Amino acid sequence: MQTPVIDFINTRHDTFIDELKTLLAIPSVSALPEHAGDVRRCAEWCRDELIRIGMQRAEINETPGHPIVYAEWLGAPGGKTVLFYGHYDVQPVDPIDLWQTPPFEATVRDGALFARGSADDKGQVFMHFKALEAYLKTVGALPVNFKILLEGEEEVGSKNLDEFIASHKDLLAADVVLISDTAMFERGVPSICYGLRGLSYFQIDLRGSNTDLHSGQFGGGVVNPAMALANMLTQLKDRSGRIRIPGFYDDVVDLTEAERAEFKKLPFNEKRWARELGAPKLFGETGYSTLERITARPTVEINGLLSGFTGEGAKTVLPAVAMAKVSMRLVPNQHPEKIGDLFEAYIRDIAPKSVELKLTRMHGGKAWKASLDNPYVQAAGRAIEFGFGKSPVYTREGGSIPVVATFQDILGLPSVLFGVGLPDDRIHAPNEKLDLDNFQRGIVASAKLYEEFSTIA
Ligand code: BES
Ligand code: MN
Ligand code: MN
Repeated sequence: MQTPVIDFINTRHDTFIDELKTLLAIPSVSALPEHAGDVRRCAEWCRDELIRIGMQRAEINETPGHPIVYAEWLGAPGGKTVLFYGHYDVQPVDPIDLWQTPPFEATVRDGALFARGSADDKGQVFMHFKALEAYLKTVGALPVNFKILLEGEEEVGSKNLDEFIASHKDLLAADVVLISDTAMFERGVPSICYGLRGLSYFQIDLRGSNTDLHSGQFGGGVVNPAMALANMLTQLKDRSGRIRIPGFYDDVVDLTEAERAEFKKLPFNEKRWARELGAPKLFGETGYSTLERITARPTVEINGLLSGFTGEGAKTVLPAVAMAKVSMRLVPNQHPEKIGDLFEAYIRDIAPKSVELKLTRMHGGKAWKASLDNPYVQAAGRAIEFGFGKSPVYTREGGSIPVVATFQDILGLPSVLFGVGLPDDRIHAPNEKLDLDNFQRGIVASAKLYEEFSTIA
């Protein structure tokens, strides 16, 4: 890679951090209607920054929800075209009391930048902005054509993205998709992610009576919806961690022996992992390692549970309603719609007649798995080695980025997932952070990556 590009990156570490702080100061929380204006302001900030760093075109596209940012630099005719995807929206910050410094006042502490969105995903998006800027402000050109697609609804299920992609196939035509929205396997172990889990998300509402009741006056005579719900939820998994929804495993592609052997090679220490989590004992599906359970096997989880009196002290009350948020993480080749139907049928089946049941389907998305012999994946491996001084390990992640399957299905494009998060970055949680060494090395690796892509036959 040309010296001026590297020099540009290496001499601007502090400037880059200051710039990133201004991006992180915009509370672009997509889930909360009161932040809709901030989400838009963030899209505009990205557009303006993309023009400033030298992209030929950057614009805001309206959707029925939050806007989509598109930008391009197409000055390498006949060259490869990269489609970069990222999201500029962030998760809500609650519980706010647990933040050591305010979530939208990015603060450097212990070699990391603490703020909501620092790792997921603004910091990782910005890493590419800076790698692009390094080329455009020094040699004045990129080694590849570059298209950028930034979404403001990733954290709420990407409701309007598939439609945008399907109706802009020509605009988005490319050779490969590049995404930085995942984590490294651990500190010092750079990684390429080749698999993501899918998702199917539900809300369950039960009603047992038209009002809360005195539990002495009425208890024993009508069903308690909290108990009914608890009873139903315990029927989702058995004691060996297997999901009890009939048909749930029908389409699951089992791990091959070769894949399981690869999993065993990864430096994963179950005891240390449990200790770091503060988990007294690990639990999961019998017959699989923890790493397999959290990345390559499906699961069903209660995300939230609400009913009755939860304040201080005691109140003798029989709640009228109970609510649970339940989601399933899926693996290839489970289909979110079909799994949703199976879940719905099972829940209706096990719900007692004594409660009124309402089921709401929230969002979903397909799992994804790449083939590792793809030349773009190999090229990314070389770039990561350049930036981090070590060749990457290949990992699957348990989280979901539903659009990756869409890129494959609608545009026929492979994706390369190169993330610089760390497993303890606390994404979606209080005190989210971005490791600043990873950020700096990630900019170098990204710049190298564009060059490596340009050399593919
Ligand atoms: N960046 C994450 C996905 C992720 C998390 C990948 C951890 C690898 C490791 C993304 O922003 C995210 O949170 N996705 C949601 C998807 C959902 C809202 C449709 C998820 O996984 O819960
Ligand atoms: Mn993300
Ligand atoms: Mn996220």
